[in-house]
Amino acid sequence: MSWVYIKDFKDHVGEEVTVKGWLYNKRKSGKIRFLIVRDGTGYVQCVMVKVELPEEEWSKFSDLTQESSLEVTGKIRAEKRAPGGYELDVNHIRIVQIAQDYPITPKEHGVDFLLERRHLWLRSSRQHLIMQVRNEIIKATRDYFYDNGFILIDTPLITGSIGETASTLFETEYYDFGTAFLAQTGQLYLEAACMAHGRVYGFGPSFRAEKSKTRRHLSEYWHVEGEVAFCDNDENIDIQEDYVCYLVLRVLDRCRSQLEGLERDISKLENITKPFHRFSYDDTIKMLQEMGSDIKWGEDLGGDDETILTEKYNKPIFVINYPAQAKAFYMKRHPDNPELVLCSDLLAPEGYGEIIGASQREDDYDLLIKRIREENLPEEAYGWYLDLRKYGSVPHSGFGLGIERTVTWICGLHHIREAIPFPRMLYRLYP
Ligand code: 4AD
Ligand code: MG
Repeated sequence: MSWVYIKDFKDHVGEEVTVKGWLYNKRKSGKIRFLIVRDGTGYVQCVMVKVELPEEEWSKFSDLTQESSLEVTGKIRAEKRAPGGYELDVNHIRIVQIAQDYPITPKEHGVDFLLERRHLWLRSSRQHLIMQVRNEIIKATRDYFYDNGFILIDTPLITGSIGETASTLFETEYYDFGTAFLAQTGQLYLEAACMAHGRVYGFGPSFRAEKSKTRRHLSEYWHVEGEVAFCDNDENIDIQEDYVCYLVLRVLDRCRSQLEGLERDISKLENITKPFHRFSYDDTIKMLQEMGSDIKWGEDLGGDDETILTEKYNKPIFVINYPAQAKAFYMKRHPDNPELVLCSDLLAPEGYGEIIGASQREDDYDLLIKRIREENLPEEAYGWYLDLRKYGSVPHSGFGLGIERTVTWICGLHHIREAIPFPRMLYRLYP
């Protein structure tokens, strides 16, 4: 009998097929029994009619428990009232394994209970929808960069040079070299590669030992980073705007039913069109102070600041040119004001906050080494990085987008932990 995925039922109406999956739910009505089966691509209601089945088939209904694995053979029938539009009239059931006491039942569970069972929670319909949207965002990312002439460069995850700041590093012993770090960013290596290829991007995990519990932070997250030679901060912002619009359009185009299933307000996403807001850091601080924040000039925006600012706007906001003291060592100094750097953060609307960090890079050898020394970074680990400013240095810029922050925003989730299959956080290493 031919095995067909539920998503392909439309091409097999009237045929006898086999569905392989798990029992999601079951119910009875008179002399009819219903099995709701999921196979990873969808859900289908399988209909058992007593007068049409031998007793040995009929009795399997009572043996089957939630999440038991099974293969159901039957005929596909179009049924307007059924979710998905089809039902399966059952002829034969092969039980693969009977599940005992599946812990996640249709009743409400606390989030700690569910996180402890993340390996099973992934099967729940809402989690299933989120992972499908994540899949689309990642595929759209690869398509965007490929189609726009960016070369993929995979950067090392174990590194000797600190990419961002010493405060959130995971350390590990590395042979005879002493301490190495798990990468916080691939940026420094992408800067080297963009001098070879012009336009490059990286996509991989980044690690941050975030010692606070927030709804925006993971210890391990997936990081998309672009880097372009002969590109200034303004051109860099244009690329980010174009990329984020592309992501949202792709999800609207290919994952509309998933967004509906997640009860996402789709009109809010349809509103994500160019141009985004562009506010200077100075103006942003004034706005925040007027909104009641106690932020002072010179500080980075806190999570609460990002929330109150972006709740007010229905489009993403670029906050441009922060004070150097609030940002990483590699950012290029503003030519008219040495207190500022040429950089931007992109904040997602509806209270979601930062999804991209970006800047033009310091391309002057002397200024860069001065910044490395000011930050007390080990100079000897940056020889190769400084070389890039000795051998054909050019203006160049890049950015990094957090995939989970973006999934959280586009899906309209409350917390980042649902945006990654197996979250790593301050209080979680299991499963
Ligand atoms: O702003 P960040 O720290 O910038 C960089 O790492 C640059 N080197 C990027 C670049 O220019 N190539 O991080 C970039 C993005 C953030 O905007 C956020 O979306 C995400 O990475 N991010 C996190 N996501 C989840 N959990 C965390 N702990 C994150 N830290 C950063
Ligand atoms: Mg940042």
